[in-house]
Amino acid sequence: MIEARELTKRYGDKTVVDNLSFTVKPGEVTGFLGPNGAGKSTTMRMIVGLDSPTKGSVTVNGRSYAKHAAPLHEIGTLLEAKSVHPGRSAFHHLMALAYTHGIPRRRVDEVIELAGLTSVAGKRVGAFSLGMGQRLGIASALLGDPAIVMLDEPVNGLDPEGVLWVRNLLRGLADEGRAVMLSSHLMSETALIADHLVIVGRGRLLADTTVEDFTREAGGGVKVSTTEPMRLRSLLAGPEVTISSSSAEELLVAGRDAREIGAIAAQHGVPLYELTPQAVSLEAAFMDLTRDVVEYQSAPADTVRKAA
Ligand SMILES: Nc1ncnc2c1ncn2[C@@H]1O[C@H](COP(=O)(O)OP(=O)(O)OP(=O)(O)O)[C@@H](O)[C@H]1O
Ligand SMILES: [Mg+2]
Repeated sequence: MIEARELTKRYGDKTVVDNLSFTVKPGEVTGFLGPNGAGKSTTMRMIVGLDSPTKGSVTVNGRSYAKHAAPLHEIGTLLEAKSVHPGRSAFHHLMALAYTHGIPRRRVDEVIELAGLTSVAGKRVGAFSLGMGQRLGIASALLGDPAIVMLDEPVNGLDPEGVLWVRNLLRGLADEGRAVMLSSHLMSETALIADHLVIVGRGRLLADTTVEDFTREAGGGVKVSTTEPMRLRSLLAGPEVTISSSSAEELLVAGRDAREIGAIAAQHGVPLYELTPQAVSLEAAFMDLTRDVVEYQSAPADTVRKAA
């Protein structure tokens, strides 16, 4: 379990992480989302003591990272995949980590195989591709068989087989009762992997929710099918309500939830044969939530064409 309480980090006069509190629970995959520069990597560094908070605190399985005698068994991390000595082989890099914790060579071989690196284990890490580096980073994170796994953009640079591997791996780790935290900019992938979401913008907590609630509450309206659309339309009408229809017996209602619509229809004896809240995609819900906190806003495509 990771528990952050009022975690704050300032660099000069810029507050990069601002009063952030959240919990990463065992048995769940927590997706840590936010636009570029939102403070995700800084938060992750503070979790493992690579940066110290200006204010607030964070614990890993009940105590600060530095207080653990054998931290690799508590939390395995991937922060910067490239922060490995380029002249060392993957095998020797993992062995060096293993020696710090008395982890047997057998476990090193195991994680090399798990990460699909067997054929390149003896190769210099400096010659690794982006994806091979990511795989080595994930192998390092798993080395100590930790209760918590925290990965900063783990699927960055992975091929489709690698993305699927990470998805199944993280799901499996959470199902074994481990706490998994990952940051990602790939929304459709996060929607598939994560249960829980912690979303930040400019260092502040914007949402602490589940993928399901977040995409449902972002609200794509409620689809209602009825044999009496005209009558239902007038019964549901109200100042905050908009109703559109895509076919003769189907209405898309925004501004009233499914429960309300069902109750009104029942009260007036209008038969319904479908009543479905429409979830929006995680990407759409995320863009909507973070619109005002994006720091590095891209210019529209036509600006580039005009300039050319
Ligand atoms: N050592 C540092 N000194 C000064 N500013 C820093 C330092 N590290 C990070 N920052 C600033 O903190 C802010 C948050 O950076 P961080 O890397 O945590 O964002 P992020 O959410 O991980 O972004 P991305 O999605 O691009 O990886 C940025 O504005 C960054 O410039
Ligand atoms: Mg980052």
